[in-house]
Amino acid sequence: MKIFIDTANLDEIGEITSWGIIDGVTTNPTLLSREVERIGKNPEDILKEICNMVKGPVSAEVTSTDTSGIIDDGKKLRELAENICIKVPICKEGLLAIRKLRDEDIMTNTTLVFSANQALLAAKAGTNLVSPFIGRMDDVGNEGMEIVGQLVTIFDNYCMDTEVVVASVRHPMHIIEAAIIGADICTVPYNVILKMLNHPLTDVGIERFLKDWGKIKPK
Ligand code: E4P
Repeated sequence: MKIFIDTANLDEIGEITSWGIIDGVTTNPTLLSREVERIGKNPEDILKEICNMVKGPVSAEVTSTDTSGIIDDGKKLRELAENICIKVPICKEGLLAIRKLRDEDIMTNTTLVFSANQALLAAKAGTNLVSPFIGRMDDVGNEGMEIVGQLVTIFDNYCMDTEVVVASVRHPMHIIEAAIIGADICTVPYNVILKMLNHPLTDVGIERFLKDWGKIKPK
């Protein structure tokens, strides 16, 4: 399973990409606005910097709501870098735009997906990635991960090349569940990536080994 980092924070991306474990980045208008406020650069420059930091796709979201506006936004974003992937919210206007962008070889990530039917339509329109928002579904009392299983099965049944991005990840169990189900990609916030690494028994173990080594270490 590929791991993307779900942030627009340049420091977080720099730190985690240096570990060599990151296959791509997802941003959205909320994440970008946080970074603009934090460092005072404009969104386009932030996106360009992110695209230089990673080889894989960097999702950047359109903000228009009509088809021609979505297409224009997508084309403008695509000019920022080769590895930009255009995030399009699922809706009728978005579907039409996804098809047009696909025809021009512009990669899309269909976002704000909350049902398998929405994802199926996006896949039929030619989207490269679909992003079901697992945590937000959990938040309203639905079993978010169910849709991931449905999508993996549906795309496999019909050999569809759309990849499933598990999004709105809140904790490390989401990533384990996504990997067991066979999701293609999981996009994970910085704080959750750090939690993936931690285990109290590892800390205790390191401390004990160092203490014992201290007793016998040649002087
Ligand atoms: C990913 O593409 C989404 O932008 C992100 O995962 C949304 O997560 P949130 O529900 O924590 O805002």
